[in-house]
Amino acid sequence: SGESTVSITVVGASGDLAKKKIFPALFALFYEGCLPKHFTIFGYARSKMTDEELRNMICGNLSCRISQRESCDDKMKYFLSKCFYHSGQYNSDADFKQLDNKLKMHEKDRLANRLFYLSIPPNIFIDVARCVSHSSASTQGWTRVIVEKPFGRDSESSAELTRGLTQFLTEEQIYRIDHYLGKELVENLSVLRFSNLVFEPLWSRQYIRNVQFLFSEDFGTEGRGGYFDNYGIIRDIMQNHLLQMLALFAMEPPVTLDAEDVRNEKVKVLRSMRKLHLEDTVLGQYKCQMRGNVRIPGYTEDKTVPSNSITPTFAAAALFIDNARWDGVPFLMKAGKALHNRRTEIRVQFRHVPGNLYKWSFGADLDQATNELVIRVQPDESIYLKINNKIPGLGMRLDRSNLNLQFANRYSEEIPDAYERLLLDAIEGERRLFIRSDELDAAWAIFTPLLKELETRKVAPELYPYGSRGPIGAYYLAAKYNMRWGDMN
Ligand code: BG6
Repeated sequence: SGESTVSITVVGASGDLAKKKIFPALFALFYEGCLPKHFTIFGYARSKMTDEELRNMICGNLSCRISQRESCDDKMKYFLSKCFYHSGQYNSDADFKQLDNKLKMHEKDRLANRLFYLSIPPNIFIDVARCVSHSSASTQGWTRVIVEKPFGRDSESSAELTRGLTQFLTEEQIYRIDHYLGKELVENLSVLRFSNLVFEPLWSRQYIRNVQFLFSEDFGTEGRGGYFDNYGIIRDIMQNHLLQMLALFAMEPPVTLDAEDVRNEKVKVLRSMRKLHLEDTVLGQYKCQMRGNVRIPGYTEDKTVPSNSITPTFAAAALFIDNARWDGVPFLMKAGKALHNRRTEIRVQFRHVPGNLYKWSFGADLDQATNELVIRVQPDESIYLKINNKIPGLGMRLDRSNLNLQFANRYSEEIPDAYERLLLDAIEGERRLFIRSDELDAAWAIFTPLLKELETRKVAPELYPYGSRGPIGAYYLAAKYNMRWGDMN
């Protein structure tokens, strides 16, 4: 028949990401009516498990957006009945062949499309890619493979991984996820910029003084220390999540919104960036802190972390884009775990108004009068603009107030999880929000010199207490460029 079917195999089905994000996102897509009519979901992992056990494992994390209990229960039941499990080794062609046989039973004589989500450690990406390509070689529809970071540890290892994967898959089959690209306000960035006359003309060195990309979490690496200690905050957050936001923020207008046009512009801006070095970087690592009588352990006290680890859990950096639009504008990044709050935002600080007639009202501190645009990615998604305003009354007193767009107030629509958007895009073959290999190379080229320097010189991070605002060094880094962190005011 002319019908098609899609099967989605989550390789590494019992892992955290699969349980917390991937299965729930697939259910949400189904619930919203976004999955194709014919679909099958397979969990694949080494441990022995029955279909029923897989269903029990995932059902606790599934939730319905709008809780119409009855239809929700029905939908959940139906969804779970489409979920199956296959146990196998990650490097066994024979085991994947058995999976292929099961998939074929579900696909019947329909056009078979297959999506594989590699929710596994990177050292087995290539084995799985090989098994997937061999076992799906005879299917008539498409086969796509989603992979998620870490994509290597530096330029060389990343290139090696790409070479390994492309032995078995074409670049078009590989969907590299950066889940920040699936977040609502990151997707909105290009709308804000390119469809508003009040912003678009200001988007350059002429009016923008600096841009800040801020990421903080109010919890440490508890339980994930084994992974984290090998990578550190620069590889975990900066080189991917923050840099991706920066690329979208700073790229030239793409010719169209098509995947290749957008990614061409991202690559261009990334390639215009200066390589990062130690003198423009501050590193931190969280240490223990007392909260009342309770002692909150520091990073190196985590059992999965070596006690002499110098892996940074915090970093701040000043980056520069050497092109006509951004020449001389500092792009500051700051990312840390175990800080005082959980928040991700982009802050745009504008220049002073030349000859500001009201400058007397700000005292000596004109910085207090600059406009600042804040894009709060999470939590409490919002966009606000700090403007100067007259305090009502007969006198003339000014203050800085917010023009405030809070999504929860303005929209009744719920904000989808990043993984929902990305999984849907992968099923539909929309590649705009996935990282192309040349983009990945360009991203690593910026950070690799620094990462090498850190490793050879064994640079020790500045310690900061769990739950604080991070090391004082970050303040000085900003001061060096005559600026202030927007989140420190
Ligand atoms: C992941 C990092 O990519 O992003 C984690 O590996 C981090 O360390 C997480 O906690 C943050 O994602 P989110 O969507 O919760 O902000």
